[in-house]
Amino acid sequence: MTTFNALVVRESEPGNPKTAAAAIEQLTDDDLPSYDDVEHVTVDIAHSSLNYKDGMALTGKGRIIRSFPMVPGIDFAGTVASSESANFSEGDAVILTGWSVGERYWGGYAQRQRVDASWLVRQPAGLTSAQAMGIGTAGLTAMMCVLALEDGGITPADGPIVVTGAAGGVGSVAVALLASLGFEVTAVTGRPEQHDYLRELGATAFLTRDEMSEAPKPLEAETWAGAVDTVGSTMLAKVIAQTKHSGVVTACGLAGGVDLPSTVMPFILRGVRLQGIDSVMASTAVRDAAWARLVSDLPAALLDQITEVIPMTELLERGPAIMAGQVRGRVVVDPNA
Ligand SMILES: NC(=O)c1ccc[n+]([C@@H]2O[C@H](COP(=O)([O-])OP(=O)(O)OC[C@H]3O[C@@H](n4cnc5c(N)ncnc54)[C@H](OP(=O)(O)O)[C@@H]3O)[C@@H](O)[C@H]2O)c1
Repeated sequence: MTTFNALVVRESEPGNPKTAAAAIEQLTDDDLPSYDDVEHVTVDIAHSSLNYKDGMALTGKGRIIRSFPMVPGIDFAGTVASSESANFSEGDAVILTGWSVGERYWGGYAQRQRVDASWLVRQPAGLTSAQAMGIGTAGLTAMMCVLALEDGGITPADGPIVVTGAAGGVGSVAVALLASLGFEVTAVTGRPEQHDYLRELGATAFLTRDEMSEAPKPLEAETWAGAVDTVGSTMLAKVIAQTKHSGVVTACGLAGGVDLPSTVMPFILRGVRLQGIDSVMASTAVRDAAWARLVSDLPAALLDQITEVIPMTELLERGPAIMAGQVRGRVVVDPNA
């Protein structure tokens, strides 16, 4: 029987998540989950990635893991090994992001995984599995933010777009996408040493995390045509207070906190629109559209600059690092290295 490696999080005391710890284990296909009443696809995973949520799962923060034992990893790309679904055949290149995989269902930190066929999308032509996971959940979310700005009618002529948490995964892809589409991009980062990196991705102006974390007045100078916010809390409130009349603020993250200490003033006096972004439960049609735009709009050279590849064994140290805001851009995980 073929064995394969997986990173498994187990509770040493069943029912007590505080006793959970992760270790690489050897599993067989018999260990993989089987879900009732759904068509399964078994995938040989080529690459996964490290997202903020994975950092939470690996460090036990926020109780992201809903059942134990768990194979974390909220996304992966690979090749279909076997399929019960007419939609996928052996050898198809596929991508999975979201659907609570790596939280409720076993995820991408493994050489092989079995999932519900309806969670998969086809890997678009023009992307390798490593590039697909260089984008990953974070990049898909950044693209969905950009699509929401476009749906709101925002164009480069309307003025600058501010991206918060800019040196992180969502932030880096958002900066690269927006700049490539001709937008003027201001990057908010707590890491001034990443200005050169962000400038290479296309940012032309910078603000510090500290100045954007000061409590805002209800209305501040109209500055932004739109925003991609990955931070939440006071920084999101500040961005909203500085958004121009009829501007669009996309909120997708909580790296700075889950609260939103804002007022209604930007909404009722400036018609500012606040658009929530959720990539986890997005429809397959939305995902396919976003992946197609990522292929056409995200230059491969910029994606290369954003991406670092690590072996699965390095995840145990990188999980805490992403929670500490120390990871730059996107980290692709190679379970086969
Ligand atoms: N809604 C969705 O579907 C969806 C999908 C993916 C991700 N997300 C969320 O989006 C956020 C970013 O995810 P990611 O994978 O890009 O994570 P990430 O790589 O860790 O990026 C987050 C960035 O936020 C900044 N940051 C960290 N801690 C901060 C703090 N206390 N105050 C202010 N800024 C802080 C840092 O950027 P600088 O060093 O540049 O300041 C950090 O690099 C997370 O909250 C994640 O859960 C949501």
